[in-house]
Amino acid sequence: MAIQFHESDRTFHLYNDSVSYCIAVTKYGHLAGLYFGKRLRDRDGLSHLLEYSGGNQSPGFYEDGVEDPSYSLNEIRQEYPSFGHGDLRQGALVIGQKDGSRIMDFRYVTHRIYDGKPQLAGLPAVYTEEDGEAQTLEITLRDEWLQTDLILLYSIFNDYPAIARSARIECHTPEGITVLQAASACLDLPDSGYEMLELAGGWARECHMYRNPLRPGIQSVYSRRGNSSSQFNPFLALLRPEATETCGEALGFSLLYSGNYLAQADVDYRDVTRVTIGIHPDGFAWPLAEGQSFQTPEAVLVYSDEGLSGMSRAYHRLYSRRLVRGYWRDHERPILLNNWEATYFGITEEKMLNIASKARDLGVDLFVMDDGWFGTRNHDHAGLGDWYVNRDKLPQGVRGLAEKVTALGMKFGLWFEPEMVNEDSDLYRAHPDWVLRTPGRSASKTRHQWVLDFSRDDVMENLYQQMSAILGDAPVSYVKWDMNRSMSEVYSAAYPPEQQGTVYHRCILNVYALYERLHAEFPHILFESCAGGGARFDAGMLYYAPQGWTSDDTDAMERVSIQYGASVVYPLSSLGAHVSASPNHQLSRVTSIATRAATAYFGTFGYELDPNQLSAEDQAEIREQIRFIKQYRHIIHQGDLYRLENPYENNGEAAWICVSPDRSQAIAAYFRFRQHITAPLSRIRLAGLDPDADYKVSYCRNSTEPVELPFGPVGGDELMQYGLITSDSRSGIHNGIYPDREGDYLARIYLLEKL
Ligand code: GLA
Repeated sequence: MAIQFHESDRTFHLYNDSVSYCIAVTKYGHLAGLYFGKRLRDRDGLSHLLEYSGGNQSPGFYEDGVEDPSYSLNEIRQEYPSFGHGDLRQGALVIGQKDGSRIMDFRYVTHRIYDGKPQLAGLPAVYTEEDGEAQTLEITLRDEWLQTDLILLYSIFNDYPAIARSARIECHTPEGITVLQAASACLDLPDSGYEMLELAGGWARECHMYRNPLRPGIQSVYSRRGNSSSQFNPFLALLRPEATETCGEALGFSLLYSGNYLAQADVDYRDVTRVTIGIHPDGFAWPLAEGQSFQTPEAVLVYSDEGLSGMSRAYHRLYSRRLVRGYWRDHERPILLNNWEATYFGITEEKMLNIASKARDLGVDLFVMDDGWFGTRNHDHAGLGDWYVNRDKLPQGVRGLAEKVTALGMKFGLWFEPEMVNEDSDLYRAHPDWVLRTPGRSASKTRHQWVLDFSRDDVMENLYQQMSAILGDAPVSYVKWDMNRSMSEVYSAAYPPEQQGTVYHRCILNVYALYERLHAEFPHILFESCAGGGARFDAGMLYYAPQGWTSDDTDAMERVSIQYGASVVYPLSSLGAHVSASPNHQLSRVTSIATRAATAYFGTFGYELDPNQLSAEDQAEIREQIRFIKQYRHIIHQGDLYRLENPYENNGEAAWICVSPDRSQAIAAYFRFRQHITAPLSRIRLAGLDPDADYKVSYCRNSTEPVELPFGPVGGDELMQYGLITSDSRSGIHNGIYPDREGDYLARIYLLEKL
């Protein structure tokens, strides 16, 4: 890994064994993008990769009497463009100026190359543990007229095909400026032969994969909801049309941010594709006085020539090792049971202990008490904001219950929704001005709640005091931090009119700050983020909470699609996944407890039900499931994931496999939504195995009892080239591998062991 500056043609080359990222300073000092992709040999003379041209109708260069029609910013691939001065495309930066102008012209001044990677104050970022793991390039550009500096940060890691980027704007003019848009990264690609992949959906249907060819114009994903949203995940990928899960080129753009964002691909008339990703400009305006600066969130760009799965594995490795922090990064996550779908708001100490002691009996490690334990929270009309125990429900307090749960030999966890308030709450009665609301107008409610004005430090301080009092008083090992509605009417009574454009961003900065304080004070607490399921399931959150509640939809089959999509970026160790009751509470679908577990195994495993309500057989199966997953979860959490069959395309079949780093063990899952009679033959081509080794293949019918397949050991090459047969006898193929009539909503788990 190295970052080279070639003085002769003023090019930068950032490279490691797998990728290169090349930048040039143009003859007039603008910063141009040369290349991002598979590793190139380092040499002087890379600047020829930039195509200069004039172009009809494109503004040509003119300055101090020098006219150069062969040079137009509109025709140059740029690193961090701004609109209006030559370049007429969508830019990365917009700065409002005292005279009303928004024109900028940043030119190269200097750069710095150093070992390691800086942290970004108050923001999530990937990190190094030792300086030798990464190198950083900081390029300073200046707009002399505006007396403003733009510092672009690029870090490259030794071991990951990734570049971390962000930008900082420093104001040196006494007149001040207002940053109206500042992307985290911009990448101009020399052609548009890509398809854009996005993760989209809605509440309880998060992270579905959509893939569409680029076309001239803009294609974007975004959030203006105050959180990163269930509707679009803050991520996009560009894939070559021929790229599949296992081969071909894929470029990933992932934003480490949990608020409003915009990520887009803009194809211009030259077929240049400009990708920008960063904070959404709508509702954003950040004034800077002389001497002040603004740091953007970080974006992580990944290149893979091993298809989409290759890109995902790069994100998984980087994010699970160098974004997730603290104690829980390197420790097995506890198997938890959450009471939400078991009791909803109907919490009593007796019920909690009944559930917890049965859960303990079955092998669960952590009991989590969800919404309803505090204030007057008997329903969702009241109580949010009042984070003190409801003694009618828990006469001995949280501590009393937590101590009893701990005495059972389990850990205890608690639900909070710190950013919200109900009108019917002591907090709101005491501080009606603590709600986000435009003056003189009413504020919309969602789920009968308002959003607290987290841009205010006094609000954040209040929540810190309330939460730390509870967490310091009782043996709490886990916190589920929820955020159950989008933000609207965003206006803060605490700030003057010219600061209102800072409120969205300040809110999320204070969420990060509160996480940081609690994390520092309670380093062993495992945080799980949640926002009505996956409305804040993003890379930024992973810096504070190593796992997130992937979706409020706990139906096993719906979850296949959700987890399949989420795994495009996020490591399986971050996907909260639970077995819930059947019929399912969201969809009334009936599935076996084996099918439900098979999906949930491929995340951070747990339960979301009352085990006392289950049959003796299901209880016994839970005991086996926990024993089983503890034996194999290291492959799922530390191994490599290969997605094999896409649930959106394959007629209701889906499959994936996790392979241990040394390829000696693997665990695969095959899901079939509907059984068909006299169906086509089916098989799944596995991936990631050692082609030269033989594997013992077993399948688990009820998800826990491995039965060796009747044909003995199989070659890794056969399993990857021909595939693993999944046809069953109802298809008319009586090869005797699988039992008859396995039915709809089938999940099979396969275990592979190298001989
Ligand atoms: C959200 C969460 C659920 C549960 C409820 C409680 O919907 O996603 O898991 O915690 O809130 O109100």
